Amino acid sequence: MREINGRTKVCGLLGYPVEHTLSPLIHNTLAQALGVNLVYVPFCVEPGRIGEAVRGACALALAGLNVTVPHKSEVIPYLTQIDPLAEKIGAVNTLVRCEDGFKGYNTDMTGLQQAMKEDGIELAGERVIVLGAGGAARSVAFLCAYAGASQVWMLNRTPQKAQEVAREVNRAFGRECIRGLALSDHEKIPAGKYLAVQGTSVGLYPHSKDAVTEDARLYEKIHTGYDLIYRPGETRFMQLVRAHGGRACNGLKMLAYQAIQAFALWNDVCIERPLADHILEKLKEETRIHE
Ligand code: ATR
Repeated sequence: MREINGRTKVCGLLGYPVEHTLSPLIHNTLAQALGVNLVYVPFCVEPGRIGEAVRGACALALAGLNVTVPHKSEVIPYLTQIDPLAEKIGAVNTLVRCEDGFKGYNTDMTGLQQAMKEDGIELAGERVIVLGAGGAARSVAFLCAYAGASQVWMLNRTPQKAQEVAREVNRAFGRECIRGLALSDHEKIPAGKYLAVQGTSVGLYPHSKDAVTEDARLYEKIHTGYDLIYRPGETRFMQLVRAHGGRACNGLKMLAYQAIQAFALWNDVCIERPLADHILEKLKEETRIHE
C-alpha cells in the first residue's frame, strides 16, 4: 500500500455509473510504477450535476479528472479551455487542471489513434468504414476526418443519424470526406479493402454472440477490423473479420492509451512501452473473466 500524505495529488473519474470502471486500476498502477504521489478514485456524479462537480473539483484543487458517460458533452460549458480536436468532436474525457479551472481533451480519440498506429494502422489517406452513429462512432468519424482519412463510410441501423453526423463532420472540416448510409446499403460502398471501426454497442458482454451484421459481402471488404468493445476480448465482429481473411483488434489498447495519455497530461511524464505493455497485461487479466 502506498503512503497517502499531505502532498498526495488526487485524480478521479466523473461518471454515472462508475462501479465497473477499470480506470482506477490503470492510474493507480501507473502512479505506483512511476513513483508519482497520486491516487485515483471514482466519483459517482448524477446526471445534471456535472457543473457542480467541476466547480467542486476546482475548489478542492484536484489535479486531473476523467469524464465518462453521461457527462462527456455536458461538461464542456464548465471548462475554461478546450483542445481543438475535443472541441470539434464535442466530447471530452480528460480534464487537466489549469490556472483558472480545467482544460478539456479527448484522449479517447487520440488514444485510439495511438493504439491503431502501434498496430500498423495509419488513418491518413485510409478508406474507412465506421459502424454505428452513436457517441463513440461519432467521435471516430471526427478523428478520421481530423487525421486525414481519404473516405469515410458511416453505416448505421438508423441511416438519418449517420447522415446527420456526416453533415456535421464535413462542415467542421470543410471537405466532403464522409457519407452516411443505412447498414443494409453497404453494397453502395465501392469495391476495395477498408479499415472498419466497429462503434456500435452490439456484441458487448453479455451479448457476446451478436454482431451488427453477419453479411459476408461487408466482411469481404475489410482488411482490418477494429472493435471499440473490449469485453469480450474477441467479439463476434472480430471473428467474422478474421474468418474473411482480415486482421482484427479489440478496444483494450484504446482503453489503455486513453488513460496513459491522460496520466501523461496530468503529471508531465512520458510512459515508455514496457510500462504500457504491463498495463495492457493487467487489463487483459482483468477482462479475461468476461470472455
Ligand atoms: P455509444 O455512446 O456507445 O456510442 P449510443 O450513442 O447509444 O452508444 O449508440 C449506440 C449505437 O449502436 C448506435 O449506432 C445504434 O444504432 P441506432 O442509431 O440505429 O440506434 C447502434 N445499435 C445499438 N443496438 C443495435 C442493434 N441491435 N443493431 C444495429 N445497431 C445497433
